[in-house]
Amino acid sequence: MRDYIVLYLNGERRKLRGKEVFMTLSDYLRSHLLTGTKVVCEEGDCGACTVMKGDLVSNKLDYKTINSCITFMHLLDCSHIVTVEGLSKASGARKVQDSMVECHGAQCGFCTPGIVMSLVDMAQAADKKITEKKVKNCLAGNLCRCTGYDSIIKAGTNIDFNSVKNFSSQFAEDQIIKDFSVESKNSIEIEFGENKFYAPVKLSDVIKLNQQKEMLVKSSATDLGVQINKERLFPKSRVSLSQVKSLYEISQNEDFIIVGAKVSLTILQDYVEEIIPEFYELLKIFASPQIKNAATLVGNIANASPIGDTIPFLMVSQSELELTGPNGKRRVNINDFYTGYKQMDMSQDELITNVFIRKPVKNEVLKLYKVSKRKDLDISCVTAGFRLKLKDESNVIESVDIALGGVGATVLKMQDSEHALLGKDYKLEEFEKTGALASKSIAPMSDVRGSEEYRRILVRNMYTKFYLDSSVIFKQSELQAGASHES
Ligand code: FES
Ligand code: FES
Repeated sequence: MRDYIVLYLNGERRKLRGKEVFMTLSDYLRSHLLTGTKVVCEEGDCGACTVMKGDLVSNKLDYKTINSCITFMHLLDCSHIVTVEGLSKASGARKVQDSMVECHGAQCGFCTPGIVMSLVDMAQAADKKITEKKVKNCLAGNLCRCTGYDSIIKAGTNIDFNSVKNFSSQFAEDQIIKDFSVESKNSIEIEFGENKFYAPVKLSDVIKLNQQKEMLVKSSATDLGVQINKERLFPKSRVSLSQVKSLYEISQNEDFIIVGAKVSLTILQDYVEEIIPEFYELLKIFASPQIKNAATLVGNIANASPIGDTIPFLMVSQSELELTGPNGKRRVNINDFYTGYKQMDMSQDELITNVFIRKPVKNEVLKLYKVSKRKDLDISCVTAGFRLKLKDESNVIESVDIALGGVGATVLKMQDSEHALLGKDYKLEEFEKTGALASKSIAPMSDVRGSEEYRRILVRNMYTKFYLDSSVIFKQSELQAGASHES
């Protein structure tokens, strides 16, 4: 058992106890005079606080960007943090800074360190020419408020990525890896005043701790960071899943992709690219790279938001959740999981340990929609998932699943719509009629993201859009089938 956490900061070992363990990373950095990292929004939205976090993966340090303003120090055990002050000539990362200067990519300079860190991440990962699209994607989580984007993007595309090397060329990583391999074998228990932090190595110990009242079990706590920063929540006792190695696993069998509670959305996005391309496209615009590098699918499910972006997909694909508690494991179909606003069929002493995503079957069409004010890094106004299959060689709807987010207290499975469409001919009028009925049956509210009326119109139009999009897909597959017959 350890009563401390260990991390490396720009190559230097730090062993923390007490108050510092409960600080955010940005507060810790700035209080130690590493003020290159800036804080603006304090809620993971602007990227000014971006740093890189290296985690031990397959005996190597794998670096990804994170938002330091919503990351607590206790979640950084066995990580190597690199800040803008840690970029050196040795790794060639200074080339990124040079490019920002040469292309006049900095005006206020306040957002610049975060932008540099995101560009370093892209340049280190680049395996071919850096494109404008790549630069834009990597900067989706970095705001420039003075709208100097043209010069920032130019700075990104001008980087000579061959001269930017991995951090292993700069830091003594062998030593860090050896250290982490030893330290990560021990559970952590830290107390500071009324604050307690636990990170057990065994899942069974997490389950035991979770039986205590007021214990808050968190995976990556990206939302918790926002809640605490905005003074909406003050959890005293926190349990982290970060030391439980089995929860980092992602695998598949014939029917399911099995996603552990600690699998980040970035890893999930890469994993599903070939298997479920439509879900991959949704994950691309789910959030910024910094958030996706930390946040998890399980976190999105347990957050139980009526506009949780992944939930319509999980509902229409009939995915299942594995809940683990003191009496063992049980599986629940996600369509039976939400019982009311932020209410779930999960007792206080249970945890979601794995998600079983059902894989698509042949000839079905899946479409996922997210409508928000901005394309990237925005909270949805309405989300939708449609999955449909026609009877073999006919125009009759054999199965259909529809789920909508942002139109009620939970994400809604639209069973009335499904019943209305089942067995009907696949034609536009059926979807228009059903969409009109669906738009009347929902209970959306008006808020900054859209009015009640706007949401009703969106829903009606989404049914029509799904018909039009799916008919294109069916036509394409008919053409492909025809072409393969001919050849
Ligand atoms: Fe804006 Fe952290 S300060 S994302
Ligand atoms: Fe900082 Fe644009 S350069 S807001």
